[in-house]
Amino acid sequence: MNRAAGAATDRQRIVFASGNAGKAREIEAMLGDHYDVILQGDLGIEPVAETGTTFEANSLLKAEHAARQSGLPALADDSGIEVDALDGAPGVYSARYAGIGASDTANLQKLLDVMQNVPADRRGARFRCVLTFMRHADDNAPLVVEGIWEGRIALAPCGDGGFGYDPIFIDAVSGVVSAAMPAAEKNARSHRGKALRELQRLLAAAA
Ligand code: IMP
Repeated sequence: MNRAAGAATDRQRIVFASGNAGKAREIEAMLGDHYDVILQGDLGIEPVAETGTTFEANSLLKAEHAARQSGLPALADDSGIEVDALDGAPGVYSARYAGIGASDTANLQKLLDVMQNVPADRRGARFRCVLTFMRHADDNAPLVVEGIWEGRIALAPCGDGGFGYDPIFIDAVSGVVSAAMPAAEKNARSHRGKALRELQRLLAAAA
């Protein structure tokens, strides 16, 4: 991540519309070779209120705000975890599941508590991510892509990597907890990795 926001570079500068350090690390690891990814906070841009009721609406809100405030192309991520036994909750409210400003630990602990009596065969869940890329704030054809990662909710936290709900999310294919995966393996399987690869395909096709 280029934290010296004014540094000169040949790569295209884009602003990432998030204050979530975990997401930013993943985006930088996947885009860093081709783009100079600048965090909106490093440009003094305050986060916009996430008033949407869908991942897509919030992702658009964030991208438009960051593009308008920065004058740069903007990338936004809105993501969360959907639990089958909870009819898709916490979904778009994942970041504030245990209350506004709640920590990752408080959010995942609330989910474990709510799921306490749910048996192993009913603990299905998925991460969902919607990425929006806007070339400028008035871009009326933003690129919007979605990625989904299927898995299930563990009985207890495990692993010390990742962020957010990673310690309690078990990948459906490998049976490995997300927080115990090396970063590259998570990026290869995750909702964000899938969405980003699709976005890169669209950007390449449009170039
Ligand atoms: P947002 O920043 O408003 O989009 O909120 C995203 C919420 O989903 C936060 O609680 C994140 O911790 C969680 N989340 C999104 N992606 C991931 C992930 O890859 N691993 C773990 N938690 C995630």
